[in-house]
Amino acid sequence: MAHFSTLLALSILALQTVASPHYQPLAGLSERELAELIPRLNVVIPPPPPGPSKDTLVKLVNNKAHPWMPLREGDTRGPCPGVNTLASHGYLPRNGIVTPAQLVNALQDGYGAQNDLAIGLAYAALLVDGNPLTNLVSIGAKSPATGLDPPNPAAIGGLDFHNAFEGDASFTREDFEFGDNHSFNQSLFNQLVDFSNRFGGGNYNLTVAGEYRFQRVQQSIAQNPHFSFTTARFLTGYRDIAFPTIFFVDGRKADGQLKLTDALGFFRDSRFPDDFHRIDGSNTSALVNNAAQVIFNAHPIQPGGNNGTVNSFTVDTKSPTFDDPCGIYTSFVDIAVSMYPNPQGVLRRNLKLNLGFLHQGFQGCPQVFPYGQ
Ligand code: HEM
Ligand SMILES: *[C@@H]1O[C@H](CO)[C@@H](O)[C@H](O)[C@H]1NC(C)=O
Ligand SMILES: *[C@@H]1O[C@H](CO)[C@@H](O)[C@H](O)[C@H]1NC(C)=O
Ligand SMILES: *[C@@H]1O[C@H](CO)[C@@H](O)[C@H](O)[C@H]1NC(C)=O
Ligand SMILES: *[C@@H]1O[C@H](CO)[C@@H](O)[C@H](O)[C@H]1NC(C)=O
Ligand SMILES: *[C@@H]1O[C@H](CO)[C@@H](O)[C@H](O)[C@H]1NC(C)=O
Repeated sequence: MAHFSTLLALSILALQTVASPHYQPLAGLSERELAELIPRLNVVIPPPPPGPSKDTLVKLVNNKAHPWMPLREGDTRGPCPGVNTLASHGYLPRNGIVTPAQLVNALQDGYGAQNDLAIGLAYAALLVDGNPLTNLVSIGAKSPATGLDPPNPAAIGGLDFHNAFEGDASFTREDFEFGDNHSFNQSLFNQLVDFSNRFGGGNYNLTVAGEYRFQRVQQSIAQNPHFSFTTARFLTGYRDIAFPTIFFVDGRKADGQLKLTDALGFFRDSRFPDDFHRIDGSNTSALVNNAAQVIFNAHPIQPGGNNGTVNSFTVDTKSPTFDDPCGIYTSFVDIAVSMYPNPQGVLRRNLKLNLGFLHQGFQGCPQVFPYGQ
């Protein structure tokens, strides 16, 4: 777990440099501050995750009940075009403040994600970016807790938070180092278009993903002195870019070739194409694992990062490697533990429950109990 000292150092640095004191995540609060906060929060006992969807067939998801709508004042979107789109079509609350159960249902209903995949993502998000007391996570910036007067912005984290879920070398978002960790960046998208023209015949596909993944890592090594591509980010960095070839392609076609006009809709506008049908959801976990492996195999690189200067990429031998099937699970647990080293009371209870729910997404992996059984 030595690498978490780096992670923690980076997170603390991030907080000190960019975050105003009002915008600390729950995990950054001292025990005393927490003790003062808890009575003012709507603390819930987290319910178990929803089960698998009964209906996994290809179906119209850009439908009358789920129209795209522009953002209203106060709505938040973040680094993930997948969940941004679900919120902008009303599969998730349009304000972007969600529970893990809402995430599981939306991923299953809107995209055809299988239950284990949806659970793994949703509970990892809550544990490293959310508020385990109120059971809420923001899909973007940290947000005020609902029901508090005056609202306490410390109460809900968000997916923008750097080096937990969000990380470097994204395809259409800049590295956190350069000041914006989550907004769509047109010049990066233009680069993706260029790679799609060169390697995908004008579409985004797994061949494009393999080449552009390597390119983005090389760019970050050359430009970002604090480039980090280890632990959970190393593994999600292959999976999240596999998603578009599976979930952003119309399910009636399902050939892994994503049109760039459709890609732009998802990545920039959080919008399904007109008449968009989701993929058949009966085998999507295996499809994701397989696709991530194809991307990795194109240019295998080891987890690592720069050491404070550019072009100093050093392999992190402690980080799970790509052939470790449980690496994502243990990475997210380790990150949660680094954020909550010694939780007490209802916080400890809720963390233990949520860690148990997280494991339901990784049933082939030995369960770990950092806070006891
Ligand atoms: C609860 C479920 C999910 C969570 C919490 C989540 C979270 C995230 C986060 C934090 C990132 C940013 C990583 C980075 O720094 O690049 C990301 C990226 C991404 N996510 Fe998700 N995600 C989820 C599900 C999905 C789904 C279902 C899809 C596709 C349908 C998707 C598509 C993507 C894509 C394409 C990226 C890469 C963006 C880029 O590199 O520019 N995600 N996701
Ligand atoms: C992400 O970037 C935004 C603005 O660019 C910033 O306000 C936010 O604090 C950053 N998130 C972090 C440090 O987690
Ligand atoms: C987008 O990324 C490019 C290249 O990485 C950077 O130079 C530019 O400032 C970014 N643009 C915005 C609007 O953030
Ligand atoms: C991507 O598209 C190119 C051009 O059509 C094609 O040669 C390649 O086989 C495709 N890759 C995948 C994985 O579909
Ligand atoms: C599910 O997808 C995997 C990976 O592509 C494939 O090997 C397997 O045959 C598929 N299973 C079914 C039942 O289609
Ligand atoms: C960082 O890595 C570079 C290149 O490998 C090396 O020259 C330098 O001494 C390292 N710096 C630190 C602080 O470890």
